[in-house]
Amino acid sequence: MTISLKGKHILSGKQFSKAEIERVLEVGEQFREELKEKPSLDLMKGYILGTLFFEPSTRTRLSFESAMERLGGSVIGFSEASTSSTAKGETLQDTILTVCQYVDVIAMRHPQIGSADLAAEVATVPILNGGDGAGQHPTQALLDMLTIKSEKGALDGLTVALVGDLKHGRTVHALVELLKHYRTRLLFVAPSLLQMPSEISASLREYGITIEETADLSGALRQADVVYMTRIQRERFADPTQYDALKNAFILDRALVDQAKPGLTILHPLPRVNEIATDVDDFGGAAYFRQVKNGMYARMALIALVTGRI
Ligand code: NCD
Repeated sequence: MTISLKGKHILSGKQFSKAEIERVLEVGEQFREELKEKPSLDLMKGYILGTLFFEPSTRTRLSFESAMERLGGSVIGFSEASTSSTAKGETLQDTILTVCQYVDVIAMRHPQIGSADLAAEVATVPILNGGDGAGQHPTQALLDMLTIKSEKGALDGLTVALVGDLKHGRTVHALVELLKHYRTRLLFVAPSLLQMPSEISASLREYGITIEETADLSGALRQADVVYMTRIQRERFADPTQYDALKNAFILDRALVDQAKPGLTILHPLPRVNEIATDVDDFGGAAYFRQVKNGMYARMALIALVTGRI
């Protein structure tokens, strides 16, 4: 039986079965093929996506918008809460109850952990979580999986190094929940203050995943098939001096890449600040801008699946 995601909210990497991940990737790949033939499709004609961005975004918002446009649908929304009724004191719940009267699906980003879950409790249309504070970012994780599959040809049995701010990084919190279905060996490369939250590591280990925690980037690069760099999340630090002390903890430059295991694939959810030197950009395995494009295909898949159009 084909897996259906119709009517489902996409809130966390944890909610996904392996079969559901594969279904999203398969549909994303199908749209990628279809868009080779024509600039847009008409699958979502007449449908509307609402984009509610209470926190800054370039890629997540624009890829959701381009995804809906390429599917033939249209988009309404806001990207600055200061221009919405939130500025007048409206609760998130009331904003969601309102926007549900206009649209068929909502993509949202909000600074509070758990905000997408709160929205889903009252929503009458599917909610796609585009990042809830330092919590989860499942749509990013799916596009990351689509990219690893495209770059590597398969997802099973890889060694993946996750580097940077693993404590506050919602992209890595979501990604490990998907990678765990593929017997991935995980290297967590972070300063000890920014290591992966212990409840996440413990639950992965319980699931049978091998994890190594280290602060040695060059050692990790000698073992990794994929390295996933992340930005130190300045906006999550209460103490700016602590951010300043950690902000340049890991910088991937061409000299380091040249000593890595051959065939390395380099990913980054972007934006980068200093984590990847620009001399890495013309390395063949530097996949972060291809990853950006896969964001559109993965989000096309999610929109079409949760609205039941496919
Ligand atoms: C990430 C995010 O917002 O969590 N960006 C993104 O969605 N591509 C990563 C980050 O901001 O560092």
